[in-house]
Amino acid sequence: MARTALVTGGSRGIGAAIAIALRDAGYRVAANYAGNDEAAQKFKAETGIPVYKWSVADYDACAEGIRKVEAELGPVDILVNNAGITRDAPFHKMTREQWNEVISTNLNGVFNMTHPLWNGMRERKFGRIVTISSINGQKGQFAQANYSASKAGDLGFTKALAQEGARAGITVNAICPGYIATDMVMAVPEKVRESIVAQIPAGRLGEAAEIARCVVFLASDDAGFITGSTLTANGGQYFV
Ligand code: CAA
Repeated sequence: MARTALVTGGSRGIGAAIAIALRDAGYRVAANYAGNDEAAQKFKAETGIPVYKWSVADYDACAEGIRKVEAELGPVDILVNNAGITRDAPFHKMTREQWNEVISTNLNGVFNMTHPLWNGMRERKFGRIVTISSINGQKGQFAQANYSASKAGDLGFTKALAQEGARAGITVNAICPGYIATDMVMAVPEKVRESIVAQIPAGRLGEAAEIARCVVFLASDDAGFITGSTLTANGGQYFV
């Protein structure tokens, strides 16, 4: 029977590309989203992938949402922690709200989604956790103390949990995309974006589908010995 995959932030941008790629690879897929009903309904109509609305920043909503997905599609074998937000500001202008919103979604959200699924994966002796971190969690980024901290936190989470999951057949990995042509990157002021592209040896932004293919690989049986790793896909912009 096909395995079930749940993709957070799965109705737009990188998450939508991941959901589609997993569906095309033969998985049953559920796409979570937090707020944009119109985009989610359009995504569902175009792809046939069911969408489920809740905020990953809310632990109880995650547990309830996961229960609903599992009742409809079966136990979740593959979790893709993709949901993420930016609230960019130089630190001297950054508010507590901007800090807390980003940490709540990008870091606490990964805990909130993984924790309710963990015991089931342990019992079934199979699981794949793939978390979408960022180049800016690796190198830091001006005006992103909140975002860079959250994405670096995702990498620590991944490395710690990989050690706990290994004997239970659960792999835990992260992907660090560079700058990908999504709404999030297009929201960066044009001049800043141009200067960023100039720093990418590949000479272009990445495509969401290029990140999705990384996820399909890490979710596969072929990747069973890969855990705790960080897969970098940034056009050569930064090497760890
Ligand atoms: N390095 C050094 N200095 C920088 C800088 C940088 N990268 N970017 C801006 N500055 C400087 C400016 O030149 C300016 O200096 P002056 O005051 O001397 O002119 C100052 O910092 C900015 O001051 P402002 O008052 O103009 O700042 P602001 O409050 O208007 O904020 C901003 C502007 C939010 C920083 C805006 O420039 C911005 O959004 N920058 C992009 C940040 C970024 O790269 N975000 C990544 C988003 S994509 C993403 O996160 C996805 C992913 O995972 C890769």
